[in-house]
Amino acid sequence: MNSPEQWDRLMCPTADSSWIAREGGYDPLLERSRAARFAISNGFFGVRGVRAIHRGGRWAATSRTLVAGVFDTAGEEPGIPKLAVAPDWLKVRILLQGEPLIHHVDDEARQERILDMRRGVVIGKGDLSNESAFGVKMRSFHMASLSQRAIGMQIILLEMEQGAIEVTLEASIDAVDVGLLSERSEHGLSVWRTRSSGTRLAVAAAVTLQIDRQLIPFTVCGLSQWSWKWTSTPGQVICLTRMVAMTRAGKDDIDPARAAQEALASAQTLGWPALVAVHERAWQDRWACSEVEVEGDPSAQRALRFALYHLNGAANPADEHVSIAAKALTGDDYHGHVFWDTEIYLLPFYTLTWPEAARALLMYRFNTLAGARQKAASMGWQGALYAWESADTGAETCPLQVVGPDRKLVDVNCGKQEQHISADVAYAVWQYWHATGDDAFLREAGAEILLETARFWASRAKLESDGRCHIRGVIGPDEYHESIDDNAFTNVMARWNIRRAIETAALLRTSWPESWRRLSGQLKIDEAELQRWGRVAETIATGFDSNTGLFEQFAGFFTLEDIDIAAYAGRSVPIDVVLGRERIQRSRIVKQADVVALLALLPEEFPRGSAAANFEYYASRCGHGSSLSRAMHGIVAARLGQSEVALDFFRQTSAIDLDDTHVATEGGVHIASLGGIWMIAVLGFAGVSFAGDHLCLAPALPAAWKSLSFPMQWRGRHLRIEINDASAGVRVTLETGDPLKLAINGELFALSSAEPLVVNSKTQAGVA
Ligand code: BGC
Repeated sequence: MNSPEQWDRLMCPTADSSWIAREGGYDPLLERSRAARFAISNGFFGVRGVRAIHRGGRWAATSRTLVAGVFDTAGEEPGIPKLAVAPDWLKVRILLQGEPLIHHVDDEARQERILDMRRGVVIGKGDLSNESAFGVKMRSFHMASLSQRAIGMQIILLEMEQGAIEVTLEASIDAVDVGLLSERSEHGLSVWRTRSSGTRLAVAAAVTLQIDRQLIPFTVCGLSQWSWKWTSTPGQVICLTRMVAMTRAGKDDIDPARAAQEALASAQTLGWPALVAVHERAWQDRWACSEVEVEGDPSAQRALRFALYHLNGAANPADEHVSIAAKALTGDDYHGHVFWDTEIYLLPFYTLTWPEAARALLMYRFNTLAGARQKAASMGWQGALYAWESADTGAETCPLQVVGPDRKLVDVNCGKQEQHISADVAYAVWQYWHATGDDAFLREAGAEILLETARFWASRAKLESDGRCHIRGVIGPDEYHESIDDNAFTNVMARWNIRRAIETAALLRTSWPESWRRLSGQLKIDEAELQRWGRVAETIATGFDSNTGLFEQFAGFFTLEDIDIAAYAGRSVPIDVVLGRERIQRSRIVKQADVVALLALLPEEFPRGSAAANFEYYASRCGHGSSLSRAMHGIVAARLGQSEVALDFFRQTSAIDLDDTHVATEGGVHIASLGGIWMIAVLGFAGVSFAGDHLCLAPALPAAWKSLSFPMQWRGRHLRIEINDASAGVRVTLETGDPLKLAINGELFALSSAEPLVVNSKTQAGVA
């Protein structure tokens, strides 16, 4: 039996309020974005953060559980696989004298929900009553275990205000909204199946009730329902404990029910206090590996905590068959599809703080290579063209039409034309290998991705009469302009992709000849083909103008109408809605970082002195019509030494999910922009980069930031980096691993675990 002290400890949020997000009252307009912000997730399943007792669908804040990899195609045309809604395992109904508890307007101030980011749990507190003013004090708790990813747990504590009241408590696993087919149902166990893919989901559940610390048998029990009825006494304390285990299986895998029952049994054996303790330890470990601390700017600290909370909850290092959707598991906007967001905005974080998660995410791309090959072949090209929107198989899942802002159907051409995704995946593969030194991954998976994507580009780029190779008819990251030729981002990334593939082939040949023999045989790559790729890379058009130092975003961009976007400052809708689609397409206004994104990813491709000019030119023409945009601008501004401009981008990026500036938060948090917050801090303000052989730092903090410190992993070592602005000091500690050399502001220093490296970055008089 559990003691009141244990319950109090469970329900007591972390004392330091910087770890807490708190929301009081009940606002029907904000409930859905709050549900996304307060979502809990362990990378296998996620639950939107609704209250235990809610008003139901009318208030658009019903609980929603999403399980990674459970995609289904509804019976509609065109059939787009969507992340299916799993059964709601948190549902509770409480009746006092036959009337349900409800949220009254005058209750609002007495209710709050707390997201404890340090512990990865959501706590609810409130005084609730029904129409007849019979009331209870309620506390609730739920979590998605980070140590046993199959397990979810809920505890509800009630304290009765009045005696002699008939109380009914029902806990159920609700399947009303579930788009899955029921395959099997018995007490405490249900198995569901998707209609099209045959993926199965098993949910095993156990629920207990204690009244004044006595276990009470249920009065009625259905297959997925437990119900108790009793007469209250004043001050009576009731505790509902529910554990669920969820498991997923492919259509040909063994029955997932057994695994769910086993996971549930072992969680029950452990008992909830121990289950919570191991979950909290897992979060502690994640924080130890990733926490970014900022002194002097509490709102930036809060934004970083919030971002890292969702990033650490979004990945699952144990699953190589799923990736992270644009809204992670916090909402179903974009149907749970995976975009370049993962490789470009999230992988840097995982690669440098959680390489096991990064590897699993890249293995998803390896495991979906067949889909990418098929897409390339279906369009008449060779190699691998990844899906712009990817789900479970790697086939293209981008819809062909969507409803536009004016409620008319608009064509979506990204699935056919937004091809930079292949180079983005290759980029993340190379960065991961470079930063971790995971040679086994390169040999067994990464090299194949690099070679097949390079092969795609080499077939995609066509040599024309001007002696240059051109890539025509694409969409770049700026999606306002379609069917364009020679998008600088696409072409330069493609060239980089081809060059890294050629390097990989050379490396394999010399270092692991057996691997090269196997892979080149399997892919039928010979020397002549590699040489052909080399010629494509040499001659590809990039749009760089050496007179102005500018990359032209795509052929003809500089001849388009130059609209002064500053004249539209203060608008409340995106600029394409103000100007209309056609006018935007004829203008130089861009939706999001495009050349600026290239500058953030491959600064070495910009000839000396040209970075600032490109940044100024394109930043002043950007509408930031995507939540991804400002992060890239923030990184580049910070690296250019424009720390205050960068801080502005940092704050605007943070506001997207924290301050309800973006209605779309209702459909889930913007996980890419959360990755972007980490990137501005670490890749921007701390200036972390690793294009060459060494890890480099080039710090430049904004004035408000007194210090910035964070851990990172580099080629098997754990490092701690501390930047102190007051003394312009950089302190790097090697916590584990072999001595290394690292560059600080371009100067090379040696670091061993014997003593930290302390460098005054203004005078650079460090221990060399
Ligand atoms: C952006 C894309 C992004 C997608 C998903 C779109 O609005 O333009 O770059 O990948 O959202 O986040």
